[in-house]
Amino acid sequence: MKDVSIDTITQAFLDYCGPDTDPRTLFVLRKMVEHMHAFAKETELTHAEWMRGLKFLTDAGQISDDERNEFVLISDVTGMSSLVDMLGSRHEGTSSSVLGPFHSVGAPHLPVGGDLKKDNEGATVLVEGVVKGTDGQQIEGAVIELWQTAENGLYYSQDTGQGDFNLCCSMTTGTDGRYAMTTVKPAPYKVPDDGPVGELFRATGREPWRPSHLHFIVQAEGYRALVTEVFANGDPYLDQDAVFGVREDLIMDYIECTDLDALPDDLQIGRNATVPYYKVNFDFVLAPEAAQTPT
Ligand code: BEZ
Ligand code: FE
Repeated sequence: MKDVSIDTITQAFLDYCGPDTDPRTLFVLRKMVEHMHAFAKETELTHAEWMRGLKFLTDAGQISDDERNEFVLISDVTGMSSLVDMLGSRHEGTSSSVLGPFHSVGAPHLPVGGDLKKDNEGATVLVEGVVKGTDGQQIEGAVIELWQTAENGLYYSQDTGQGDFNLCCSMTTGTDGRYAMTTVKPAPYKVPDDGPVGELFRATGREPWRPSHLHFIVQAEGYRALVTEVFANGDPYLDQDAVFGVREDLIMDYIECTDLDALPDDLQIGRNATVPYYKVNFDFVLAPEAAQTPT
């Protein structure tokens, strides 16, 4: 019989694991349990506090369904999503950032220069740039997906007033690696705060806001897929993003312009932008598929 004590319980957990356990699984589990046990000892965790934590997780399970995953949100607002993401993408390319829950597969394809704004309220924003490798070489045939909120801070899937795939598109770069689209300025918005994560925010005096951003996925053969976001310089929530997604190289100026003749010639919207319009220039730098993540 094992004489389990405060001092031996961590080793007892390890001793109970079978010899055929996959080594990486065993390593990750061992570290997790070591840290959990150390956490309980360090905080002198009470039974009531542990039960409160378990209720938090139970509530997260109960509010989750096919559309909503509160566990992913917990991972996001505790910084775990961003931390794991940063650990897995230490390379010379553009920084990655959180995917979030509002990406939809199958967005309509737009030609380079296409218009996403259509009837959406708000100032026109021209987003353009080049997809290139870390060697500076422009990448032909890169596929870019963009999705964003409307001016009211809602994604189409949250808002019955917007049509399917409103403000979502995919686009393929030509020989020069260039992409360009006209759209509207996205707005800051709150992550869902009507569940356990909201309780966490209120208990800790935290804000549920995310700074306004454009979401992108960029993929090209031979390169690591990039999931990222582009933020607007000057946004009031840049320094307190609820999900820790902001990186220095992802903050862009929305340059105010009034000269319609300065718009590129290949835009679907032609010279019909509202004035002032804004320009966001952002190049995506993809790391080669083989780029090693240092450990
Ligand atoms: C988003 O940017 O869409 C998002 C990311 C994480 C949690 C909630 C929303
Ligand atoms: Fe978002």
